[in-house]
Amino acid sequence: MSNKNKEKILTGMRPTGKLHLGHYVGALENWLKLQDQYDCNFLIADYQAFGDYADNISKIRDSVIEVTLDWLSVGLNPEKSSFVIQSYIPEHAELSMLLSMITPLGMINRNPTLKAEMLSQKEVSLGFFNYPASQVADILLPKANLVPVGDDQLPHVELTREIARKFNNMYGKVFPIPKALVGRIPRLVGVDGKAKMSKSLGNCIYLSDSEDQVKIKVKKMYTDPTRIHADDPGHLEGNVVFMYLEAFTSDLNELKDLKEKYKKGQISDSVVKDILSKQLNNFLDPIRERRSYFTSHPNTVREALISGTNSARVEANQTMSEVKETMKITKYEDISQITRVIKDEK
Ligand code: TRP
Repeated sequence: MSNKNKEKILTGMRPTGKLHLGHYVGALENWLKLQDQYDCNFLIADYQAFGDYADNISKIRDSVIEVTLDWLSVGLNPEKSSFVIQSYIPEHAELSMLLSMITPLGMINRNPTLKAEMLSQKEVSLGFFNYPASQVADILLPKANLVPVGDDQLPHVELTREIARKFNNMYGKVFPIPKALVGRIPRLVGVDGKAKMSKSLGNCIYLSDSEDQVKIKVKKMYTDPTRIHADDPGHLEGNVVFMYLEAFTSDLNELKDLKEKYKKGQISDSVVKDILSKQLNNFLDPIRERRSYFTSHPNTVREALISGTNSARVEANQTMSEVKETMKITKYEDISQITRVIKDEK
């Protein structure tokens, strides 16, 4: 069944590498549910990724394919939702430029996510600094009502709401005021216990990792540093293995039981890790299976990208026409515009 008459969702990812478990619990899990209820646009924000990798375009290009494979593998369905390549829709850049004219610099300067990301950049480009404003255009171009994101993206959605309101007040109502939707687990810690799973920190379990890779990574995970012997009582707070069990278990009763045993020192770290490895691999198995289907059907991958992008392009074109008409920056073909000014000059 088509989702076209339903409320519109736009969300997206920067293609800067393969996706990991943090992407799954923070975003994809939520998107999978939403694709049945809404008209979803999933944006592969390759222009945004230029802000990080302008010197490595082939990395971005390959990552567009990696991200598509990951999306298909987790079960996002291009027959229900549109996968959209940002760079194929020049209207993103056009709307972004127009909206940047009504975006106060102070709002960008104050953006906490941008501030944090700028710290890790050697040299901040104007384009990178502008990315929250360009993300506003990503969301407004398809006139999205809802934006499912991790909590780090909330300031960008807030910015979008402010700019949409400002545009509507200044020129006329074009845009709905979108709302953010945060998933079940806004952020997953890395396998090393650092606050965030992130490729640059090297603490990821990828959706495309093999069974053995998962086992090795789980073995290295942090548990309870105060626990020396297997029969010492264990602590759950800050215990990475239990945070992952919490996020991925399919059996809450079993987990409750495990926690009790752990606290009493009745179960060793290595047994708990074995259980986690098994659960993660069970979770990843169907994803691996779908991946192997799509890697042997590259035309299906291509079709997913191109068909979604084409239909988004049609809508983008409509929105841009409406934007220009509302801002009254059209109609130079109309001779009466020219004669009016000539008359005024006389
Ligand atoms: N900034 C997001 C990220 O870092 C990607 C993104 C681009 C996005 N445009 C968006 C997210 C629009 C939500 C809505 O992955």
